[in-house]
Amino acid sequence: MGNQSHLIETIGPDLHVAAIMDGNGRWATSRGLERTAGHAAGEDAITAIVTAAERYRVAELSLFAFSTENWNRPVAEVEFLMRFNGRLIDRHGQDYHDRNIRVRYLGEREAIPDDVRRKIGWIEELTGANSGLKLNFAFNHGGRAELATAVRSIVREAPDPSDITESTIQAHLQFSDIPDVDLLIRTSGEYRISNFMLWRLAYAELVFLDVYWPDFRDEHLAEALRIYETRTRRFGEISPEPHLAIAAAVGDQG
Ligand code: IPE
Ligand code: IPE
Ligand code: MG
Repeated sequence: MGNQSHLIETIGPDLHVAAIMDGNGRWATSRGLERTAGHAAGEDAITAIVTAAERYRVAELSLFAFSTENWNRPVAEVEFLMRFNGRLIDRHGQDYHDRNIRVRYLGEREAIPDDVRRKIGWIEELTGANSGLKLNFAFNHGGRAELATAVRSIVREAPDPSDITESTIQAHLQFSDIPDVDLLIRTSGEYRISNFMLWRLAYAELVFLDVYWPDFRDEHLAEALRIYETRTRRFGEISPEPHLAIAAAVGDQG
């Protein structure tokens, strides 16, 4: 399908892609199924995006699996999501390791059931030295909670306030070496961030796809990467080239 090697060449060696895996519930209810069937069906989409990320030589992939706000869902759905995410580690952990993938879990661990927390510890330990795809699951993650935790840890060191810089905050994040996100994909036709990786999304390019997460496959990552390629990232500077979308909208006026 299409020009893969071209994509691989143009996205460069250090791309960090993040995805808000949204639309599981709607995928299920539109089929007359329980919402949890949608979460279960999301497993194949996770497998697909991980394989596609390896294929397109994405360096780092961060997947939003459970937010700090998702605790407000019905207890049965929350319990399903906890158990389900634990079973994902059982089913895919060894395979990730065999593929040289490094797996991490971004988020507060205290509230997570003991057995799931143990599985997270196991997979992080097993894959910690791997040098392939860096795969992060944001699980019981909230962008604001992450910053609050960083602030608490800075304050404990009682620094001179004038010494606190942006690098200080970055250094006190749970994983200080996870870089800024380059490309954020959200599925399901919702257009919001929902408290995901706020610090690292500062200059991310946002791509919203009209597909429910369980239907996400290789072609959708390829589509998002192609859209990303057309963007001009300015980081506040002025760009030497007119933005492609604007150039197209105003027409070629020489
Ligand atoms: C995303 O799908 C999965 C989680 C938030 C855990 P949803 O469960 O939010 O699905 P919709 O948005 O209700 O369709
Ligand atoms: C964001 O999706 C969280 C995950 C995908 C894990 P939500 O479905 O919870 O977000 P909102 O509530 O629609 O903003
Ligand atoms: Mg949702």
